[in-house]
Amino acid sequence: MTDDRTPSVSTADGFPTGSGGHDPEVLRQRALDALLTARARTVTLTDSVDDGELTAQHSPLMSPLVWDLAHIGNQEEQWLLRAVGGREALRPEIDGLYDAFEHPRAARPSLPLLAPAEARTYASDVRGRALDILEGAPLHEGGRPLERAGFAFGMIAQHEQQHDETMLITHQLRTGPVALTAPAPPAPTDAATLPAEVLVPGGPFTMGTSAEPWALDNERPAHRREVAAFHLDTAPVTCGAYRRFIEDGGYTDPRWWAPEGWDMVREHDLAAPLFWHRDAGQWLRRRFGVTEPVPDDEPVLHVSWYEADAYARWAGRRLPTEAEWEKAARHDPATGRSLRYPWGDTDPTPEQANLGQRHLRPARAGAYPAGRAPSGAGQLIGDVWEWTSSDFLPYPGFVAFPYREYSDVFFGPGHKVLRGGSFAVDQVACRGTFRNWDLPVRRQIFSGFRTARDA
Ligand code: AVJ
Ligand code: FE
Repeated sequence: MTDDRTPSVSTADGFPTGSGGHDPEVLRQRALDALLTARARTVTLTDSVDDGELTAQHSPLMSPLVWDLAHIGNQEEQWLLRAVGGREALRPEIDGLYDAFEHPRAARPSLPLLAPAEARTYASDVRGRALDILEGAPLHEGGRPLERAGFAFGMIAQHEQQHDETMLITHQLRTGPVALTAPAPPAPTDAATLPAEVLVPGGPFTMGTSAEPWALDNERPAHRREVAAFHLDTAPVTCGAYRRFIEDGGYTDPRWWAPEGWDMVREHDLAAPLFWHRDAGQWLRRRFGVTEPVPDDEPVLHVSWYEADAYARWAGRRLPTEAEWEKAARHDPATGRSLRYPWGDTDPTPEQANLGQRHLRPARAGAYPAGRAPSGAGQLIGDVWEWTSSDFLPYPGFVAFPYREYSDVFFGPGHKVLRGGSFAVDQVACRGTFRNWDLPVRRQIFSGFRTARDA
């Protein structure tokens, strides 16, 4: 499964030719676990509010929660029941309603959507059939790329978890009584002795993957990249550091801002991250229905790419490129290999990363010592998505699979890459190679950043 060692199990575009070096029965069990974990989260997110809130639009940026629920079922039906299972459509008339490209989010509440009870029944009918298909699918043979190494099942579990993160964003945007709670993440233990930045020496490394069985098309194939030496923040930029930017007049000085970023600041009168406000001289924030003081030592959240870029310039630094981020997260100088995760090749444990909505906030800067990379950087996986300076572009040898609308149609200078995952995403949709992207103005997402400088 290691990219530098297993060229024989993958094609040039990086998709596994066999089981990707895995036991098909292990993959079948993994797929089952991943699907069940995702559904448990979906149920929590949709059972925690009443039907009125499920069908309401809490923000024009988001779909009603009941749209996400039926869209999750519809994608699963299209890929697992129809494409893999060869089944007839259960409800062909609804496909268009749940096609994200046919209707923009703001228009979705006025569509004749399935009502909450119908959407729940539909999603669970689909799931029952999908599990039957999983039981009999030949994950190791038959030559069908969708089934190899359980790819389609892994892809659908990731899709559901991505929408679970989307639904958590909707929960954060909604107003009203508290619907979700979770325990605090672990506190840092050695933060006081951590250096502010780490040095990543120059040289080539392996970026992307051809061996990870459920890596999505945009993560493939593995390829070598040259990266010059640079320094990277040990931890994401904190609210306290960001507050100093605000208090130094950061939002009123065009020197720090990209031209489009400065336009955004003036047009929307921005003065702080989304969900922050000032009251009697104190910064407060709203987090899942609770108003609380902004915690100085927690990574800053809900900033746009333009704000991250402006902060970095103010600090005399810059955002890391996507390749720099991945090298700091994966490159192991002891072996020259790229790891699956900063700590090695094993799946994340709760001691290594803040993932999966176990905690509804990032951990304080310096937490998760067991999750650090060989470079010394920490909290690369989980906590907050990290903006990079890079546009979302295909890797050399990219092949769209299994549909162009996942990645291909988003490539280009309009979208910036985010890396590392947030507390809101599950481990099935987060790894050292995973690429997220969004518009540079977006700030309702669980986005933060760290800064870099040339060495
Ligand atoms: C990869 C998070 C940008 O939510 O728009 C969900 C994931 N693609 N359904 C998104 C996705 C299709 C996508 N992101
Ligand atoms: Fe989707």
